[in-house]
Order: sequence, then structure tokens, then C-alpha cells
Amino acid sequence: EPYRVALYPGDGIGVDVTESAVKVLETAESTFGTFSLEFTNFNWGCNYYERHGILTPPDYAQTLSKFDSIFLGATGWPAKVPDHLTADVLLGLRRQFDQYANVRPARTFPGVKTPLDCDVDMVIIRENSEGEYANVGGRFAQGTPNEVAMQTAVHTRRGVERVIRYSFEVAEKRQRQKLTMITKSNAQRYAMVMWDDIFEELSMEFPHVQAGRQHIDAAAMNFVLKPESFDVVVASNLFGDILSDLSGAITGSLGLNPSANLNPERRFPSLFEPVHGSAPDIAGTGKANPTGAILSAALMIDWLSVDGSASIAGDAIRAAVAECLARGESTPDVGGNLTTAQMTQSVMTRITHK
Ligand code: NAI
Ligand code: MG
Repeated sequence: EPYRVALYPGDGIGVDVTESAVKVLETAESTFGTFSLEFTNFNWGCNYYERHGILTPPDYAQTLSKFDSIFLGATGWPAKVPDHLTADVLLGLRRQFDQYANVRPARTFPGVKTPLDCDVDMVIIRENSEGEYANVGGRFAQGTPNEVAMQTAVHTRRGVERVIRYSFEVAEKRQRQKLTMITKSNAQRYAMVMWDDIFEELSMEFPHVQAGRQHIDAAAMNFVLKPESFDVVVASNLFGDILSDLSGAITGSLGLNPSANLNPERRFPSLFEPVHGSAPDIAGTGKANPTGAILSAALMIDWLSVDGSASIAGDAIRAAVAECLARGESTPDVGGNLTTAQMTQSVMTRITHK
């Protein structure tokens, strides 16, 4: 039975890097023969919007729900479509498919210059379904001198527990077995103290994991001063959003980092995408770094093959990408002079010649 993958290449460089990811997956599939994939392409995004006035058909989530997973390139083109419409499409999927764990691995690669001179290998796990982005509140006496705006965070025990539990499970499987939870429980004394309580409770169930806590202000400083000290990091929606961009910044290029929006119970498809956007400034120039998309594809086959049958292929993809970066067989953003298609070809060649 092949895994059925919905491709949503989207706009700008999303289209180029999705093509790279698919080619690399097909190469790994035929080289290793340990998994098989069946792709279905959806041409949604700006072009669809120009013809239909909407980015996707209204029943797009229903359509995608029939797949085993979703691979997204990048969506958005502010000059053509109001950006909030683009965001609504993605937020709609996260919500409907209960993709509450947003997982963003961030690592440095030999051969890629970074702003800080140290090795980083961390995974940020951001709560993706509630918290500070719950959309509760309102503006009262709007526009008057007496205006009051309230933006209320909503943290549920169920929502917090499930993302922290998933983070402990991820930490337990990694070599360093370390989990750091980020809150601001000294100043936010209801919700964030509940995070602390739940973290303490769950840490009893994972005695092998070295569990620690930091406040967001200290964590932001430590991400810059000693990023090598972090292994797995879990945080609420807002803090996780900020820290995951910071983790990307300290590893070299926005083009390098993969991400997964997971429904860990597997009741719904999970969504895999590079961290970067559609990059209208370089779209069509062949300068897009395909690394983030290719590494997202590797995360996807790891996830799909629950029994681990694709993990050798996933590891081979990661090794091939690292070798290309180390040898400068890469795109201009990381100091190389290859095009997207040429770097993709280098990765494929390294996979087949293992
Ligand atoms: P962006 O990530 O598209 O680009 C930021 C800068 O990084 C640009 O200078 C771009 O050239 C560079 N860059 C990004 N990816 C790269 C890659 N793979 N290789 C080399 N350089 C790369 O962010 P921006 O410009 O703020 O947003 C453009 C559009 O993308 C907007 O419509 C935005 O909403 C959307 N977007 C979509 C996301 C998604 O689909 N999940 C995520 C982030 C932004
Ligand atoms: Mg962000």
C-alpha cells in the first residue's frame, strides 16, 4: 500500500522546492525500496485565486482529509492576494486536523556560516492549537480615548498536557534526552503556573529525560549566548513562534529549516513544509535553497512509516543534504553557486551512490 501524499506547492519558490522534495523522495523510494508514495498535486494559491477569487475550493480540508499526509511548499504573494487570506488557509488546516504539535528541528551544518560560532542541534516544539492565539477578546469603546483591548490566552489542561507529553516522548528518543520548557510563570501566574504543574507531573513519567524550565526572556538570551545547551524545547503558541524563528536565524539561512505540523494521534493527516515562505523576491530565479523542503520530506517519510521501515531512507536523505552543504554544492544563500535544480540533482546523486 503506497502512502498517499497531497502536494500543495503553492506560490513562488514553494513550487520549485516542492519539485525538489518530490524528486528526492522518488530517488529514495527507488534506491531503497522500503516505502512507496503516491502523489496528488493541487494547484491552489495565487493562480487559483486570480481565476476563482478564492485560494482553494471551499471543501479543501475535506479533500485533504483523505490523504495520509500533506506536503506544502509555501503560500502567499502579498502583491497578488491579501496575506491574511493565505494565513487563514493554513490556520484552517492546523485547526481542522488538530495539528497541535508544530515541530521545527534546527541544526547547524559544517560548511554553512552562521552568525554565532557554535554547533546547534535542537528541536523546537510549539503548541499549535490554543494559548495566546486563541482569538478570544475584543476592542471596547474602539477609537475613543477610553478604548480597552483584550486578547485573552486560553490554555486547557488537555491542550497543555498533550503537547508536553509529546515533547517528552521526542526528548526520550534523542541522544541527549533533554527537555526545556519555556514559560513566563513568574509574571503570568495562572496559565503558566499550570504549565509548570503539568510539566512536573509528566516529568515523573519520563525519569530518563533531563527536564528543565526557563522563562522566555532568559531563554531568548540563552538561544544567542549558548544555543548548544538546548536539545528539545517546548513552549506555548506565542513563545514557540518567536523561539522557532530565532532558532532558524542562528543556524544560517531561512532556506535550511524543515517543519512538521503534527497530529500525534494520527486521526488526521499531518502537514510538512519548509519554514520559509514563497520568497517573491527570488521566485523564478533558481536561487531558492531546496534544503528546508527536502528535510521536510525526510521528516514526512519518518512520520508515515510508523514501523520505522523508511528511516534508513530518511537518514540517507539527511546525510546527502549535509554532504552537499559541506562541499559547497549549494545555493547562493549559503555561499554556493548552484541553482535549485542543480543542488537537488547533487542530493539525488549522493543518495543513489551510497
Ligand atoms: P520569505 O520566507 O518568503 O522570505 C524572506 C527572505 O528569505 C527573502 O529575502 C527570501 O528571498 C529569503 N528566502 C526564503 N526562503 C529561501 C530559500 N529557500 N532559499 C533562499 N532564500 C530564501 O518571507 P516573506 O518575504 O516575509 O514572505 C513572502 C510570502 O510568503 C508572504 O506572502 C508570506 O505570508 C508567505 N509565507 C508563507 C509561509 C508558509 O507558507 N508557511 C511562511 C512564511 C511566509
Ligand atoms: Mg513565525
